[in-house]
Amino acid sequence: MANLVTLLCKAGVLVALLLSVVLSACFGPATGGLGNVPFKSTLPLRVLLLTAHPDDEVMFFSPTIFELLARNITVISLCLSTGNADGLGEIRRNELSHSLDVLGIGAANGIVLDHPQLQDNISLAWHPEIIASVLLQPVLSYNINAILTFDSYGVSGHPNHASLPAGASHLLRNMTMDKRPSLYSLRSMSRLAKFTGPMSIVTGGLFPPIILSSYSTTTTVTRYLTSLKAMAQHRSQLVWFRYLYVLFSRYMFVNEWNEVLSAL
Ligand SMILES: *[C@@H]1O[C@H](CO)[C@@H](O)[C@H](O)[C@H]1NC(C)=O
Ligand SMILES: *[C@@H]1O[C@H](CO)[C@@H](O)[C@H](O)[C@H]1NC(C)=O
Ligand SMILES: *[C@@H]1O[C@H](CO)[C@@H](O)[C@H](O)[C@H]1NC(C)=O
Repeated sequence: MANLVTLLCKAGVLVALLLSVVLSACFGPATGGLGNVPFKSTLPLRVLLLTAHPDDEVMFFSPTIFELLARNITVISLCLSTGNADGLGEIRRNELSHSLDVLGIGAANGIVLDHPQLQDNISLAWHPEIIASVLLQPVLSYNINAILTFDSYGVSGHPNHASLPAGASHLLRNMTMDKRPSLYSLRSMSRLAKFTGPMSIVTGGLFPPIILSSYSTTTTVTRYLTSLKAMAQHRSQLVWFRYLYVLFSRYMFVNEWNEVLSAL
């Protein structure tokens, strides 16, 4: 049974790869829209990617990471937990540093916190004030001009993900205009749109932006293959459904962003 599943997954990987090759050939190289984002302020841009658990960076944000790095934008990865829900925190911390190396961010630009009130837990929302308090120091010390994170649904509905934008907003409200970074949230898709896999590159156009400030970034075949390699670093997480995820999840292929302007 396990062998059959593995075999099916491998066949699926091949099909998805073929599909993405064909689609990319048809639709040309990625034209990452994030380059048009009116990032406030002066160069050099320094972006903070705010995640909840090791592997979020690959599973949800890789198309954007590649695009930012290709534009020589410094990316700092701040992961608020070690992902210790199953007691694998230290292993996962290590997997994340390998993944950051593969993605091109570099382990040296990764920070992983292990705060008692920000623990990996599928039934806990994290408090915005605590998130804001741990964000302040990295935002100031790295001179961050933009924070990228989940939106208030958090893609999968995981309350740890969903807590992040409110925490970031809380911080920004408490910063003076001149130091305040802009904040972008990754748009959560409906269940149907979430699993369009490589087709997302095509269907991207069928789900037009509904909010004024919105941007999208698409992967390429080479980038997609690199993201598979980064996902492979998260060895402790490679259960069978993650193979399906990397094939069919829209977020491995396209990221759509909204700028968070509310109440700032
Ligand atoms: C990024 O930096 C490298 C090395 O400094 C340079 O060769 C490359 O042209 C730069 N790319 C962009 C898009 O600015
Ligand atoms: C997650 O939080 C719930 C509710 O506070 C708690 O009962 C549970 O023990 C926590 N799980 C872990 C793994 O810490
Ligand atoms: C705002 O920042 C100040 C110092 O920078 C801090 O003392 C205060 O607790 C912060 N307030 C909130 C709501 O985070």
